[in-house]
Amino acid sequence: MDIELKELIDRLNAEKCLPHEGWVRLFDGFTDEEREYSASIARRIADEKYGKNIYIRGIVEFSNYCKNDCFYCGIRCSNKNAQRYRLTDEEILQCCDEGYETGFRTFVLQSGEDPKYSAERMCNIVRAIKTAHPDCAVTLSLGELERGDLAELRAAGADRYLLRHETATKNHYEQLHPSFMSFEHRMKCLQDLKELGYQTGAGMMIGAPFASSDTLAADMEFLGRFKPQMVGTGPFLPHKDTPFRVCPKGSYELTLFVLSLVRIMLPNVLLPATTALGTIRPNGREQGVLHGANVIMPNLSPTAVRKKYMLYDNKICTEDSTSECRFCLQRRMESIGYNIEISRGDFCND
Ligand code: 5AD
Ligand code: FES
Repeated sequence: MDIELKELIDRLNAEKCLPHEGWVRLFDGFTDEEREYSASIARRIADEKYGKNIYIRGIVEFSNYCKNDCFYCGIRCSNKNAQRYRLTDEEILQCCDEGYETGFRTFVLQSGEDPKYSAERMCNIVRAIKTAHPDCAVTLSLGELERGDLAELRAAGADRYLLRHETATKNHYEQLHPSFMSFEHRMKCLQDLKELGYQTGAGMMIGAPFASSDTLAADMEFLGRFKPQMVGTGPFLPHKDTPFRVCPKGSYELTLFVLSLVRIMLPNVLLPATTALGTIRPNGREQGVLHGANVIMPNLSPTAVRKKYMLYDNKICTEDSTSECRFCLQRRMESIGYNIEISRGDFCND
């Protein structure tokens, strides 16, 4: 193993931060050896904090209408080939009920940025879920909202919010998004979420177009400063109906390495082995767990709409049902010596 890189990984473990140049060196120079070394530290930390337990969160992808136009995303508004759908409030609740029966205690409501679901309507949905299942956590993933709306949703009972920062480099943000979207607004929104008392999730795609060791270093520095309770990160995967259709996939090994480094830097973080990681490799999610992840987020959406929520090509689990994914994951986790944990799985600081 490269001794300088090993020292950087040890220093990250001791100090929970690295200088920019240190990150860049790690990303430019790592091989399987350094990745496996960081995985062994990351997994030891995760086992200390969370044992052999993997939390599950059920995602209800309730609308794929989106007013945004992110260049990487399959449900961007300019994609005229996307077949759009919306679930009714009752259908959303039914997905949660079915999830509850199958052992889920966190529901993630995710959609494109769809103005048809006003803050008021979402508050009603959150309250209805909380009334039906008071022992469950509700996580929202609705894109950028104004502070007032986020405050109302929090008051209605929403516990957590996922909003990936996507990239911490303004210039890079502008290469991934149309000019009407703003880096500052996204960052403001993340700040608001924290201040309003949400358990907040940030994150980025690995190997997105125009990403470099330098932008990834900036992402790690941002995560180290912002200290989100959750970090969602998976490889970039191209979607055939987007401007990035011809761009190469992100690196599988780099994604795993980043997962381990995030775990080492933020020992208590809730870290999913993402669907994109399971899409780029058949056992990607298992490897994610072995690199320090402790959360898996399968789908609770009705099978009939799953194929329509295609952020990237070849997304897994689109033919499967809630209970098929639930038991598939149980087998997958048991195959590597882990158990699925049925509890809310809140962030804990000790
Ligand atoms: N490849 C990988 N991840 C993607 N996302 C959106 N499009 C893609 C893609 N083509 C991620 C973004 C977004 C999350 C919901 O999915 O990071 O925040
Ligand atoms: Fe969905 Fe395996 S988790 S089929």
